[in-house]
Amino acid sequence: MIIARLETSSGQALDTFRNEDETVTNFDQHYDRSHSNAEKWDTSAMQEHFGRDDLLPFWVADMEFQAPPTVREALVKRAENGIYGYEYRPESFFNAITQWYTNHHRWKIDESELCISHSVMSAISVLINQHTDKGDGIIVQPPVFFEFRLAILENKRKLVRNPLKKTTHGYEIDFVDLEKQAAKPRTKMLILCSPHNPVGRVWTKEELQRIGEICYKHNVRVIADEIHADIIYKGYQHTPYAMAVSEEIAQQSFTCISPAKTFNIASVTESIVVIPDENYRAQFKHFSSKYALGKVNAFSVIAMETAYRTGEQWLAECLDYLQSNLDFLRDYLQQHIPNVKLVEPEGTFLVWLDFTGLNMDAKELESFLAKKAGVALNSGYWFGRQGAGYARMTIACPRSMLKQGLSQVAQAIHSLPDTATSSKGDIDS
Ligand SMILES: Cc1ncc(COP(=O)(O)O)c(C=O)c1O
Repeated sequence: MIIARLETSSGQALDTFRNEDETVTNFDQHYDRSHSNAEKWDTSAMQEHFGRDDLLPFWVADMEFQAPPTVREALVKRAENGIYGYEYRPESFFNAITQWYTNHHRWKIDESELCISHSVMSAISVLINQHTDKGDGIIVQPPVFFEFRLAILENKRKLVRNPLKKTTHGYEIDFVDLEKQAAKPRTKMLILCSPHNPVGRVWTKEELQRIGEICYKHNVRVIADEIHADIIYKGYQHTPYAMAVSEEIAQQSFTCISPAKTFNIASVTESIVVIPDENYRAQFKHFSSKYALGKVNAFSVIAMETAYRTGEQWLAECLDYLQSNLDFLRDYLQQHIPNVKLVEPEGTFLVWLDFTGLNMDAKELESFLAKKAGVALNSGYWFGRQGAGYARMTIACPRSMLKQGLSQVAQAIHSLPDTATSSKGDIDS
């Protein structure tokens, strides 16, 4: 069966043949990234952040899995061509993106609304500059991806916090507070993390509509960062913000999309911003021409187009594997370290773990996880003070690595004086 036919700009046809029941990728396979330039495995970065360079790393939000085989094959083929002169992005590139969104999210994006950006964070920074002034307020919903805060502060804007509420059903948006923050005269923008990193919420259509209505009423523009949109667990569905809200409200939005997380191609991809308003779009594109940022990287064009055209089967298998890693982790915590609680994720390959049962302050927990457990997890307080007592862990890794990390955490916890007796069963089982 042909699962994909990719026609590249050079006219090469790349057909990928697979049997219906053939598994493409062995997600249990370990790849040694320790001597590559992988940020997650960089010993000096670990030393800097955790005070030790020999940790088992679960911190940087990428996967330990190889990208889809079709992407690897296409990149090798392109590399072998040997000519790396100036290139353009063909029509088929843009079409691959809109096709993916139509098929996977029922979002029919007009190709003319797509704007290319170096990365999601560079797009966010440009949009902050174009749509707010120095000193203006920008809302974020902590605990949230820490680079939002950096982008706001680096651009001399004011961080306006609308913390998520932790309820018995999980994290929710505090809409009363959102309205209060949005109504402040200098509040001009909201950076929405959808799905939410690190708490794993996949916002519902109703929640997104409420956000949209509040922001529109107070003239607050919305950047929807949807980089995690394709990693969704069974029973949940990602709704693009611009699709959830009315057309009028969508005109005041910017949606950042990217195949980086979906196919584990962060170092060979660019990102895309969907900008429905024609003037805002022209403004965004002008920035690129003003600073001559338009040069095309042949490898990212090939990786992105091939991933969106042919990555479907790989993604389905990857999602199954992530789901079983999540089930494994949930069971492991319940059996061996019940005082560490999983905040059940609805999406993303990141889990938000509640260590408050250990009664440690934020710095103590950070040092305990690194120095005693030997694992590199993102400390919860990096995501805002609401994250103190929590840690984020990437579960996109072979199950044996996940098990090893969890067993190191369990051993460290069981060696604590007052929890030593709370061990349930053999932690290596
Ligand atoms: C919510 C979110 N946005 C943006 C990024 C970074 O994207 P980029 O590398 O394209 O700037 C990440 C990476 O972890 C993320 O989780």
